[in-house]
This record gives sequence, structure tokens and C-alpha cells, in this order.
Amino acid sequence: MPLLTVTDLTKDFGGLRAVSGLSFDAEPGEILGLIGPNGAGKTTVFNLVTGFLRPTARRILLAGRSVVGLRPHAITRRGIARTFQVVKPFPRLSVRENVTLAAFSHEAARRRAEALAAQVLERVGLQDKLAEAEADQADGRTQPA
Ligand SMILES: Nc1ncnc2c1ncn2[C@@H]1O[C@H](COP(=O)(O)OP(=O)(O)OP(=O)(O)O)[C@@H](O)[C@H]1O
Ligand SMILES: [Mg+2]
Repeated sequence: MPLLTVTDLTKDFGGLRAVSGLSFDAEPGEILGLIGPNGAGKTTVFNLVTGFLRPTARRILLAGRSVVGLRPHAITRRGIARTFQVVKPFPRLSVRENVTLAAFSHEAARRRAEALAAQVLERVGLQDKLAEAEADQADGRTQPA
């Protein structure tokens, strides 16, 4: 079964049809790109799938269950994550804290969220660098990473 099924997705902004009858499947582990010229409707599709916009007509199934009408945080809990064209981390938090904050959407307990963040940082090759920076910071040598 596809992980994500989008069927006949349509979004109108007033008289402008930004997305018209879009259908696609995404299989588990598949990397799928969405391409098109400026204004083609790519960001609108992401906003629809993640609940930031409500579709005019649609079917969006995640693992066989509809996510249409759910709030963005509920869709995130089901497993859809997104990033934005302009990235906006929390500037007063450290890198590790920013990642841990995201992990709280899957783990309510602080220690488990921190452990998940550490796994993610390890996967993208940042864990060692941050551990080094944090050690320096603990010594009072540098500012937070
Ligand atoms: N909230 C909105 N209200 C009205 N019109 C919108 C809104 N969001 C997008 N549009 C319009 O919908 C169309 C699709 O826009 P969208 O941002 O999805 O395109 P895109 O493919 O992501 O473009 P880009 O490559 O520039 O990021 C455009 O004509 C845009 O002006
Ligand atoms: Mg866009």
C-alpha cells in the first residue's frame, strides 16, 4: 500500500485554480520530487498535504487514513514533516535545542525527545561537532552553537 495517496486534489483561491485534479502516490522509502515553474502550485500542494490550507476538492490518505481536515500538528504526529522555503529556526535556542523542540512532536518526555534529537544529529553528522562545541562552551571558551 502507498504511504501517501493524493487523489483529485484541487485548490481554488477565489477565481484562481492553483492546483487542479492532482493525483499521485508515494511509496514508503520513495523519494519523490514535485517540479514546475514559479506559481505552478508546488507550495500550495505542500500546504494542502500538511493541513496549512484546506483543499477545495480532494482525497489525501496517509497510510490509508484520511488527513483532510486535521490540524497541522495532528498531521505532523501522523508522520508528515515539512520544511519551509525560508527556514526559520528559533534564534535564541541552540542547534540541539531546535532539533529537540521538533522531537517533542513525537516524544512527550524530555529525555526521550533529547535522545531522539541526538539520533537525528548523529544521522546528519552534527552530533560530534555539537558535542565538541558544547564542551568548549562548558569551559567558557565559546558561545552556544
Ligand atoms: N494564499 C494564497 N492566496 C491567493 N493566491 C495564492 C495563495 N497562495 C498561492 N497563491 C497563488 O497560487 C498559485 C500557486 O502558487 P504556489 O506558491 O503554490 O506556486 P509554487 O509552484 O510554489 O511557486 P514557486 O516556484 O514560486 O515557489 C500562484 O498563482 C499564487 O499566486
Ligand atoms: Mg513555492
